Parts: sequence; C-alpha cells; structure tokens
Amino acid sequence: MKGIILAGGTGSRLYPLTKITNKHLLPVFDKPMIYYPLQTLIDASIEEIMIVSGRGHAGHFLELLGSGAEFGVHLTYEIQETAGGIAEALSLARNFADDESVTVILGDNIFQDNVKKEVASFKSGAMIFLKEVPDANRFGVAERQGNRIISIEEKPNVPKSNLAVTGLYVYDSRVFDIIHTLKPSGRGELEITDVNNEYIRRGEMSYSVLSGYWSDAGTFESLFRATELVRKMKR
Ligand code: G1P
Repeated sequence: MKGIILAGGTGSRLYPLTKITNKHLLPVFDKPMIYYPLQTLIDASIEEIMIVSGRGHAGHFLELLGSGAEFGVHLTYEIQETAGGIAEALSLARNFADDESVTVILGDNIFQDNVKKEVASFKSGAMIFLKEVPDANRFGVAERQGNRIISIEEKPNVPKSNLAVTGLYVYDSRVFDIIHTLKPSGRGELEITDVNNEYIRRGEMSYSVLSGYWSDAGTFESLFRATELVRKMKR
C-alpha cells in the first residue's frame, strides 16, 4: 500500500500565518502540522509516500522532510498548480499509485487512532473513517441506514447525522477513473465527497468509526483545538 498526503490549497483561512509559509508547516503543539498525517501513514506501515502540495512555499516541504530517510520512509513530491480541490490533487498521484490501492490523508488532519489493521484488511472499493462531532455542518457528513452508509453530504446546513467524514480514505486503483468523470462543484473544485458517493452508489464503500480524537486544523479555531488535543495527549 502506498500513501498520499494532500497538502494543497492556499491556506487563506489562516492568513496572515500562511503569508510566508505553507499551512501544513504551521506548528501544532511541538511539531509542524504535516508530521501528524505523515506519522498516521507510517503507523499504518506505509513506506512509499507522495506529498501533493500547492505552489505556495512548496520548497519548504523539501527543506523540512527531505527524502524521508529520517522517518524511515521514501517521499516523493508533486505540485498542484491551481487550487482545484482535493480530488484533483489526488488525481496527480495516478502514476505514483501505479495501479495499486492507496491510503490518502489530508495534510491538516490529526488522528489519534492507529488504522494499521483497517488498512491491512482493505481489499477493494473504498473505505472511509467517520468520527462523531458536535459541528458536523463543517464537514462531509455520512448518512447511515442500519450498518450501511447511503450518502455523504458536503457541509450540509442541516446534517443528517453527527458523523463527520474525516480526511483519511483508502481507495482501489479505480479511484483515478472516477475522478476523471467528475465535474467541478459550486465552489469550482473536484470534490472528494463526489468520489465517495460514487463508491457508495456502486455498493463498494466500507467504513470504520474512530474512537480516538480527531481534528482538522485549517481554521484558527480548529488549529487551536488541534494544538490543545495534542498537548493533552502528551501529558
Ligand atoms: C474536506 C472534505 C470534507 C472533510 C474534511 C475533513 O473539507 O471536503 O468532506 O470532512 O476535509 O477535514 P475542507 O477541509 O476542504 O473544507
């Protein structure tokens, strides 16, 4: 299994912190943000990892992480020229994936759970990781019927559940053909939620509900909360 960290976007919601460096390099307690998703992949025994970043300050990733040797992994870098969305960023990893399944993680998502078992048991289709949250309207939200997910809504005004779709996904190699069929959403991006809904439509989506903490870190509030959570965990 290969891993892909999606670290694109302009970080506009964190301006001016993102004026002179990339959002994913900002501190979350005692480490740069991207160390956490990187560690989540490493803990899942993934050693071949691509980082897809936007143009802004992309060289800083190389300076910080280099070849990956100090983490015991091999890193590859790709650039997303314009902020075309998470699914577009993922499409840039097609050659890297080389017809294998991939574990994809957003560069601003911080997980406590170790997902090694789930990743190891993945066979085909897609798998997502859900987390109960009090503010589901900020995220992709999963609607369940019995044990099955029947749809995901991106940032609904009235969420159908409190289950947020976290930024951690496992896909088989068909994901790249699915992205190819997508049309840009209202915000002009190729949405990862549209990819996930296609796997749901095909009846090939599995999921797991996380028990540990999870936070994104792309806004001032969530960045602060992520820092608090990491600090608490270390004490
Ligand atoms: C993205 C996804 C959303 C997901 C979230 C997790 O949102 O579109 O479905 O719940 O990441 O962090 P964005 O950060 O692009 O607003």
